[in-house]
Amino acid sequence: MINTVTIIGSINVDNILHIQQLPQPGETIAMSGFSTAGGGKGANQAIAAARSGAKTAFIGAVGNDTNGEFMKTQLVENGINIQAVKTTDEAATGQAYILLQASGQNSIIIDHGANAKVTIEDVDQARAAIAAADFLVTEFETPLPADEEAFKLARAAGVKTILNPAPAITQIPESLLRLTDIIVPNETESMAITGIPVDDEVSLQSSANYYHRLGVETVIITLGERGAYVANGDISELVPAYKVQAVDTTAAGDTFIGALAAELRSDYSNLLDAVRYASRASSLTVQKLGAFPSIPLRKSVLAAQANA
Ligand code: RIB
Repeated sequence: MINTVTIIGSINVDNILHIQQLPQPGETIAMSGFSTAGGGKGANQAIAAARSGAKTAFIGAVGNDTNGEFMKTQLVENGINIQAVKTTDEAATGQAYILLQASGQNSIIIDHGANAKVTIEDVDQARAAIAAADFLVTEFETPLPADEEAFKLARAAGVKTILNPAPAITQIPESLLRLTDIIVPNETESMAITGIPVDDEVSLQSSANYYHRLGVETVIITLGERGAYVANGDISELVPAYKVQAVDTTAAGDTFIGALAAELRSDYSNLLDAVRYASRASSLTVQKLGAFPSIPLRKSVLAAQANA
């Protein structure tokens, strides 16, 4: 079975500054290297879904510039349908400035650029791509009204919605959560939404209950090295992470989401297996540098699972 996945989200060129550790306020440091890669939470999720074998379509925007052409080419080369990616003269292609520490941890500064120009009308024009999907995925690097319009169209068409509430914001409209079938926050994002610090299984389940009360059926809270907590009416389970040496954690969460959307059956009958698959995909991403270059193909994920 091959899933069809449609993603509305951001497209960024990532500028990666390699540093030993973050500078203190007032401190000047030298970088040890510089590199660029395709990125953006939405685009990373689309690449992950496509490399995991999903038929993938993207709704978003780039500027009318070299970076925009570069990013569109990368998406097409990965088999992603970019009919609903608009090229705008109103802003430059989005860029991210990533401070990558020797530990593999990163800090990211975003210039949203064209990503901020995605409109409700753009989404309406892509209604066929939304209705054709098994899963519609979004995050918060495109404007909320456009994201919510996409979720409305998905709900009306019986398409399951996956919300990755990243980067963290505190004021998520309840109307958006009510249109969400699966929410996948990390621990920081979850605390920003629920106000509940996530430190043990009791607080994880309390967080899950918060989303359930708003009608979100399935909750997956990603916990980095600790794994992912999965909760729906029948399951409350912590799926452990795979222990690996991280080189660069950029796009780890995005890989998890895209791989999950590609692997999960629409009746959720393989939920825990799909979470294990997504977690394994993510563990491969962190072992390489950059977002697009590090996101694994399905065959690499299956090989890593077989060799475990
Ligand atoms: O999640 C990682 C991504 O966040 C990076 O690729 C960067 O572009 C930002 O959107």
